[in-house]
Amino acid sequence: MKVLAVLASPRKGGNTEILVDEMLRGAELKGHTAEKLRLYECEILPCLDCRGCKKPSSGYNCALSDAMIEIYPRLEEADIIIFATPVYWYGPTAKMKLLIDRLRPYIASRKLAGKKGLVVSPSEEGASCCGPLLQMFAMSFEYLGMLNAGSLLAQAYEKGEIRNSPEELKRAIEMGQSL
Ligand SMILES: Cc1cc2nc3c(=O)[nH]c(=O)nc-3n(C[C@H](O)[C@H](O)[C@H](O)COP(=O)(O)O)c2cc1C
Repeated sequence: MKVLAVLASPRKGGNTEILVDEMLRGAELKGHTAEKLRLYECEILPCLDCRGCKKPSSGYNCALSDAMIEIYPRLEEADIIIFATPVYWYGPTAKMKLLIDRLRPYIASRKLAGKKGLVVSPSEEGASCCGPLLQMFAMSFEYLGMLNAGSLLAQAYEKGEIRNSPEELKRAIEMGQSL
């Protein structure tokens, strides 16, 4: 199966990326194809609510022209999508929110329906602060017809601090193996 991680931390080698890399390593060990996409390296414009993607005449495609032209096919080719974002103000980073808003074409086209979605999210406070974030993803997965395949929440604040938690790294690799 194809696993795609969309990574929405601005910190290269930060806690989110470390967890994602472990998870993808686990997935590869089980023979899956694993890819990572750093969203902070992509220009993603905000959804303008033009509603073009609701019209059959548009082929249910987005009218905007930016990096999403390459990201849409990668999402569609994946069987499993990992949404990886640090917690920023009890939600995802702005870059992740830009991506989520641009998933709107998939409400009509249903092209993400049946795919598995997972959330990877480190934060200073840990799992106890992730309720709003998890609820947003769970409801969005449901709206898109995706299957909620769970989440990996971890406590870490400084860049790379998650490396001091071998049990969290183990959890990440095991989760990747179980995909
Ligand atoms: C703008 C901003 C907002 C944040 N908001 C929260 C928050 O609401 N709760 C929390 O526990 N941590 C919060 N954090 C801490 C990050 O989630 C934490 O440092 C995380 O490990 C960063 O992941 P990274 O290394 O992948 O960038 C915030 C950090 C920033 C920069």
